[in-house]
Parts: sequence; C-alpha cells; structure tokens
Amino acid sequence: MIDFKALAETYDTPLYVYDFNHISEQYDKLKKAFSGRKSLISYAVKANSNLSVISHLAKLGSGADCVSIGEVRRALMAGVPKYQIIFSGVGKRDEEIKEALEKDILLLNLESEAEMERVEAIAVQMGKCARISIRVNPNIDPKTHPYISTGLHENKFGVDLETAKRMYIHANNSSHLDPVGIHFHIGSQLTELEPIREASMIVADLVRSLKAIKIDIKFFDIGGGLGVVYDNETTIEPYDYAQAVFSTLYGLDVTLICEPGRFMVANAGWFLTRVLYEKVNEGKRFIIVDGGMNDLLRPSLYNAYHKVEVLGKSGNESEADVVGPVCESGDFFAKSRLLPPTEPGDLVIVHSAGAYGFVMASNYNTRPRPAEVAIEDGQPRCIRQRETFEDLIRLETMCL
Ligand code: LLP
Repeated sequence: MIDFKALAETYDTPLYVYDFNHISEQYDKLKKAFSGRKSLISYAVKANSNLSVISHLAKLGSGADCVSIGEVRRALMAGVPKYQIIFSGVGKRDEEIKEALEKDILLLNLESEAEMERVEAIAVQMGKCARISIRVNPNIDPKTHPYISTGLHENKFGVDLETAKRMYIHANNSSHLDPVGIHFHIGSQLTELEPIREASMIVADLVRSLKAIKIDIKFFDIGGGLGVVYDNETTIEPYDYAQAVFSTLYGLDVTLICEPGRFMVANAGWFLTRVLYEKVNEGKRFIIVDGGMNDLLRPSLYNAYHKVEVLGKSGNESEADVVGPVCESGDFFAKSRLLPPTEPGDLVIVHSAGAYGFVMASNYNTRPRPAEVAIEDGQPRCIRQRETFEDLIRLETMCL
C-alpha cells in the first residue's frame, strides 16, 4: 500500500507518484507473452519520459521507441543500448536524422517517400548505410478515440501498401539504405483484438511478398496501443495479443518488436492534488483542487475518464465536478461524479495517471510543473523536482 498522505506531506501537491514494481510486472507479463519468438519490447518513451522510468525499464531489458532526437538522447542517457532504440515519427529534421545515424541506433522508421529521400541523401553525405523500417498504414479502424486512432488512410501516419512496396524496392537497390524492418501502429488504448490481427495479417502478407522478391525483413514491429483499465473496460490479455500476431507470421523468421507505452506505465501512476475549497453554483457542486489541466491534460483534451478518490472519505456522496484553478471551462479532472463532502486540504487521488500525464503537462497560467516521485520496494525517491517560478522565466529576456 502506498502512503499517499505521507507523500503529499513530504513532496507537496500537485504531485505525480509512480510504482516502479508495477512497471516491472507489466514488462514481465508482456515479455513472457512474446516468449514463443525472438522479441524486443521497445518502450514508447513518449508515454512517460522521465529518465528514471526509462532507466528502470532499460534495466529490465527494454528497448526504446522514440519520436524525437530528444527522446533518443534520453534513452541513451538512461542506459538503453543503441541497438535497441528505434526512431519513429512523421516529421524528422535533417539534424535529427544525422544524429540518429551518427549514434548508430537500431532503426529509423520512415513514414513517407520524401523522408526516405532525405535519409538516403544524408546517409550518402555521411558515407553511411541507414538501417530503416517503413511504417505501413493498413487502413484498419482500431475502434478507439479518433484523436488516438492512427491506422486509417485519413490519418497522417505511414504509407499505403503499394507505396511501401515501391519504397522497399528502392531501398533494397540503394547502397545507403538497408530495409531491415516493417512497422505498423493502428492506434492507442486498443481494447479489441480483431483489428490488430487483421492489420498484422495485411502487413505480414506484404512481408511474404517482399520475401518472394528477395527482400528479407528481419524486424516485424507491431507498434504499441495495448489498452488498460481506466474505468471498467475489458482489455486484451498479453498472451492473446501475442498469439493473434504470431498466427499471422507463418513462413516468416522475424524478430517481433512491440512498442507499448500506456500498458507499461498508465496504472503505475497517480496524480495527487489537494482540495482548496468547494462551491455550489445554482445547485451545481464544484470541488476546486490545486492541480489543473496544465498538469494532467487527458480529461480536458480527450474527455478521458480517470477514477477520482477523496482519500479516507466516504459516505454522504453527491454529484460534483472536480476542477482546477486554470482560467478555462475545460479545466476539469472529473464531471458529475458521486463524491463525499470535502474540506480544504483533503487529498484527491486521480488514478491511472502514469501515461501521457506529466509528459503532456505545460506551464499554462505560469504554473510550475509538478514533482515526480518513484516508489520501489516501499522506498520513495524524488525523480523530478517541482519547477520554480525562476525555472519558468529562465529563458525569457525582458526588453526595457
Ligand atoms: N508506437 C507509436 C508509433 C505510437 O504512435 C504510439 C503512441 C505508441 C507506440 C505507444 O502507444 P501506447 O502503447 O501508449 O498506446 N496522448 C494520448 C495517446 C497518444 C498516443 C500516441 N502514439 C493519450 O493520452 O491517450
């Protein structure tokens, strides 16, 4: 049991708390599910990029899936071996491509023909051969929130099957490109297996057709997207997930890569915030807390559900919105939830906040971002200090 009260007293609020033992369990579950084949779990750093989180996963054997050179640098600093780092994303600057090639990471994942031309030109300049994979858009509806759905042609991600094939043939004939991987990612917070199996089959068919023309793909990257329980969702079991993908890979000797973000960290994290006061507007009850949408954006941005609990209080519940101090009507953590009466100083715990929480925080309203604390084997440790006002204005110049 985590002593949230003591943590709030020691580190103040708003605060992020992560249970590193839970992260280990999630990693082990997934690794075990994939044990029937060669596999690499490449943690999607974007979900929670704190150096200690990445380093904890690196120690367990995890690789890193990165979407900026900044994330690649974090992964290397945190001890992820370069041969377990992938660099994805629809738009990479020349300097980012160059640095990735210099650092000799496992793969650059390409999302357009134009990007392949840039990578090839830069590899020529550097006298290098770039190991690449191509992100294929299998045109599958993942049945998740439209903002986090990525595998349909209407989304900006990847290339269609025909383009992918053309790109592989070009890369295979280039002495500066080595097409070793293939990639797809149809969306996030996936709770249905069938779209994943279908997408995997489409992409595996492409790999088989490439094999027939002597283009040998070694890495089959199924992206991330495994959903987690926020409320009462039925989620996919890692074992079923692995089996569904394996069933599409007949005739192929590939290393499976998967890029989980949310699955690893979402339910390892909590956001702690204190009640400032309550008010009632024409019968509508508001609990006003010291954390805001700038600290945890998911409810405002996606109308995402996060379980909310007032620590140590129950009974006499009535409907309330839990809202922050930011000057936006969208600044809320929960709407119309049954919650007990609160008093100033009560601790509100927002659950499932380990993924896409701190990383999406901003300084809107000149609010310093929260501190982050990790608990491992019962021991708390601060892994990011709370920002100060001075941190916020450090890069500004005042014209007098
Ligand atoms: N691989 C690729 C190529 C991705 O685009 C993503 C997530 C992942 C892996 C990791 O997906 P995960 O396993 O975490 O579902 N901010 C949103 C989620 C955005 C996901 C973007 N891509 C949220 O808070 O729900």
